[in-house]
Amino acid sequence: MPSGRKEIYATIANDPTRDEQPANAAATESPTRRPAFGWSATMTDAFDLHGKTAVVTGGAGLIGRAVSRGLADHGATVVVADVDASRGGKVADEIGGHAHFASVDVTDEDDVETLIETTVENFGSLDVLVNSAYPRNENYGQSYEEMTLDDWEENVTLNLNSYFSAAYRASAAMRAQETGGSIVNFGSIYGVQAPDFTLYEGTDLTSPVEYAAIKGGVLNLTRYLASYLGEHGVRVNAVSPGGVYNDQGETFVRQYEERTPLGRMANPDDLVGAVVYLASDAASYVTGQNLVVDGGWTIS
Ligand SMILES: NC(=O)c1ccc[n+]([C@@H]2O[C@H](COP(=O)([O-])OP(=O)(O)OC[C@H]3O[C@@H](n4cnc5c(N)ncnc54)[C@H](O)[C@@H]3O)[C@@H](O)[C@H]2O)c1
Repeated sequence: MPSGRKEIYATIANDPTRDEQPANAAATESPTRRPAFGWSATMTDAFDLHGKTAVVTGGAGLIGRAVSRGLADHGATVVVADVDASRGGKVADEIGGHAHFASVDVTDEDDVETLIETTVENFGSLDVLVNSAYPRNENYGQSYEEMTLDDWEENVTLNLNSYFSAAYRASAAMRAQETGGSIVNFGSIYGVQAPDFTLYEGTDLTSPVEYAAIKGGVLNLTRYLASYLGEHGVRVNAVSPGGVYNDQGETFVRQYEERTPLGRMANPDDLVGAVVYLASDAASYVTGQNLVVDGGWTIS
């Protein structure tokens, strides 16, 4: 390090007025200079979610379950919102006191409205929405050649509309409270990149074409909402996972691992840190972003 720079650091370190500076009135009056989580809080405090209420749609799912638990571990009151009452109830029970199950079909506008309203009524605020539901029809997952226009339309509608509808209702509740809120939408690596179809060779799996439209849509919807809702204190971001291990079969898993810089598929827990960060005040100046959690898949 050049000696000039060392001296500057020494000067700052020895400045007797240094500790007094942050609390001065002019600084706290400036929205630009004022940290959202306050001068006295530490970065550890900023990740703390005590006092916040989070709704996780698809909270009983592979990823939603881990995310619900992670948000509760950080102190949030969590509403596990899922259409599957049996699994959703179990998830809430496993997490314990901080978690509550809500039986919700996110493709039903009335259900979504009721979910948001009752959450605010019961817990006093809605601070975090995580869109992690994965509604699809019985034909979802077909090959490009087998898919029909009806299936395309139904799956895009079920998935993309429900993400919008939950975000729309949640943002209305967040705008109405002084503290704003944070919305996290689950995207995918396939929202930013085309599938590598050689990955599926020798397996029964594929990446359905609807998924490309849904996830591309979710990511740009995220940017739109972030831009529109920023002035209302509502942050909107996306987390885009790579493939999460779920017994996909040996051939697929090996082929996936070979293409991934970190050499493995994701575990659901790998996604939790990204969501907790974006939900928390540690990300108070982050909006409209897509946090890709993929073991490096998309860098090559
Ligand atoms: N698993 C992966 O490999 C992966 C990779 C990239 C992105 N993602 C994304 O992450 C999100 C979560 O995926 P997952 O793997 O946890 O899916 P999942 O199928 O394990 O869980 C989805 C949950 O949504 C619930 N759900 C379905 N329809 C619903 C409805 N109409 N109303 C309410 N709940 C409903 C299901 O009951 C289930 O509990 C999705 O957006 C998915 O696209 C997943």
